Amino acid sequence: MPTRRDFLMQGAATTAALALPKRLYAATSGFQTLDARTASVQLAPEGYPETDIWGYGGTMPGPQLRLQQGARLQRRFMNELPQASSVHWHGVRLANAMDGVAGLTQPAVEPGQSFDYDFTAPDAGTYWYHAHNRSTEQVARGLYGALIVEESEPPDLDREEVLILDDWLLDPETAQIDPDFTSRHDRSHAGRRGNFIATNGRHDLSLEVRQHERLRLRLINAANARIFVLSLQGMEGWTVALDGMPLPRPEPLAEALVLGPGQRADLIVDVTAAPDETAHLVRLEDQEAASQVAFPVTGLASAARRDAPDALPPNPGMEVTGLDDARAVRLDMQGGAMGRLESAILNGEKKSFRELVDANQFWSFNGTIGMTDAPLVDVEKGETVKLQIYNDTSFPHAMHLHGLHFREIGEDGRLGPLRDTILMFGGQTRTIGFVADNPGDWLFHCHMLSHAASGMMTWMKVI
Ligand code: C2O
Ligand code: CU
Repeated sequence: MPTRRDFLMQGAATTAALALPKRLYAATSGFQTLDARTASVQLAPEGYPETDIWGYGGTMPGPQLRLQQGARLQRRFMNELPQASSVHWHGVRLANAMDGVAGLTQPAVEPGQSFDYDFTAPDAGTYWYHAHNRSTEQVARGLYGALIVEESEPPDLDREEVLILDDWLLDPETAQIDPDFTSRHDRSHAGRRGNFIATNGRHDLSLEVRQHERLRLRLINAANARIFVLSLQGMEGWTVALDGMPLPRPEPLAEALVLGPGQRADLIVDVTAAPDETAHLVRLEDQEAASQVAFPVTGLASAARRDAPDALPPNPGMEVTGLDDARAVRLDMQGGAMGRLESAILNGEKKSFRELVDANQFWSFNGTIGMTDAPLVDVEKGETVKLQIYNDTSFPHAMHLHGLHFREIGEDGRLGPLRDTILMFGGQTRTIGFVADNPGDWLFHCHMLSHAASGMMTWMKVI
């Protein structure tokens, strides 16, 4: 039912349509709001003070957004933060103008202003949304949430859980977020790593399950820089999708699952632990294992185990073809501590490594630091690109391509799974291929957010 206010707004819009700013127009549309504001939450264990965060809807993680495959998402982003911001829909093949990259696809939304995001989600899968202006700070303060696009045929499961993994850099006394978001050390080394690990904003997330219950776990790594190495205890699992995209067949989770910043994995797990036992999603670190999420078993779901799960239905039109006469592009990544970078171009000028250190800029792509006016490559819509990336640094980097999914091309020519973020370790050369079928300006950057802020950012143009 239109309210009196709607009626008044509509009246205003028709009488003075041309003179009205966008905000008034939009008030008559069906957009729900997604506001970003300050809040405080109990992040550290009880007994500690609450932590001041920035959150969508004042919560952390932000509201879980769910829609059906092919459906339209409309959200009015309202910025109630003390800083300009924007929202990026990580992994979604959407229209470029809705990609939310402040400074590339839209201006940053100033405090008190709004921006209408409106796009359809062509692919089912696990995605997430997060701030994309001053991301090192804004994501570290809590500006992210899950974006779930449901298959039209739901898979055969008992239930699902979305698990957003993050680490927080907190003052051990006050539990407040460390405000040094430009730390020279973090930028030049492995990025900003937290001292406090949480899932969905809880350090002790515990979810009751029953034996032989089948769950889908949607894992999202929202950390600024931490690589999560995960395994299961008391559960048998299969990886069924990576970065939102279904694998052609479920892969038994025998070894550990490595999840770099920005990456996602969908697991199907069967609880094998008996009633009164506790199953775990385990985090492996430096030879040690810690519980990331506990799953206490409260009873029996069924007497028998199930058969292995089926694959999820593939998303449409994602074949990587035309690799034989693809456009070949090379990207050399250099810099950081213990690296070999002697000089690089910063803002059009050649700088020595010393000068770069003074400027707090550390990483170069093909000899240049940060965004350039010209794209790394410009291609025609539908062209295939083969991008060879050399990580000539001493650190891992999680390279994320906006708006397009790619496949890794193995040395034997075999194609890997579709992904939007590739985790590359120091010294590695890896090649990815993709069909540039989505027009626009697409960012390609390291998802270790301190690295992106100190040079590891470029873009591609698809016309
Ligand atoms: Cu998830 Cu450019 O970011
Ligand atoms: Cu990096």
